[in-house]
Amino acid sequence: MHTVKAIYPGTFDPLTNGHLDLIARGAKIVDELVVAILRNSEKGTPLFTVPEREEMIREAIQGFDNVSVTTFNGLLVDFARQQGAKAVLRGIRAISDYEYEFQMAMMNRKLDPELETLFMMPAEKYTYVSSRLIKGVFRLGGDVTALVPPLVVERLKAKTVTPNNE
Ligand code: PNS
Repeated sequence: MHTVKAIYPGTFDPLTNGHLDLIARGAKIVDELVVAILRNSEKGTPLFTVPEREEMIREAIQGFDNVSVTTFNGLLVDFARQQGAKAVLRGIRAISDYEYEFQMAMMNRKLDPELETLFMMPAEKYTYVSSRLIKGVFRLGGDVTALVPPLVVERLKAKTVTPNNE
């Protein structure tokens, strides 16, 4: 049987409803989707640890029987090969995402010509949502409940009351 396994890689600091929307769309068109959190991110200090991010994603994907979550280090193409995945799923919200995504997709193609990148667009209502904006808005007291899963809201609240987090 011809089955397609795809990796949905990212930082997920934290998971947003935009990510979740993309997971739902991806899960409909591939047989198996693996959400993969990059452990050695160069994005600076994350708000959530990798195990915290993994736990939030695990809870959020409970309703999908073909989606799992794991972490990876190093090159995405190497991880995809190890996993036997034929494709990488990425979301594009706006034209501004395109340049970065195009470069990554082409670099990954150069590194492994067999691995395809699938781009999908999240629902319009999430096109402006990013983990970075969620953290910024929440820190300043803004309401993000419609934009992230309930557990993420809880965890964001818990972070702000824990000393030494800023
Ligand atoms: O959520 P992000 O930060 O946009 O995800 C970026 C990610 C994790 C997909 C990307 O940084 C990545 O794949 N890193 C792994 C290292 C790698 O393979 N680099 C070469 C690809 S350009």
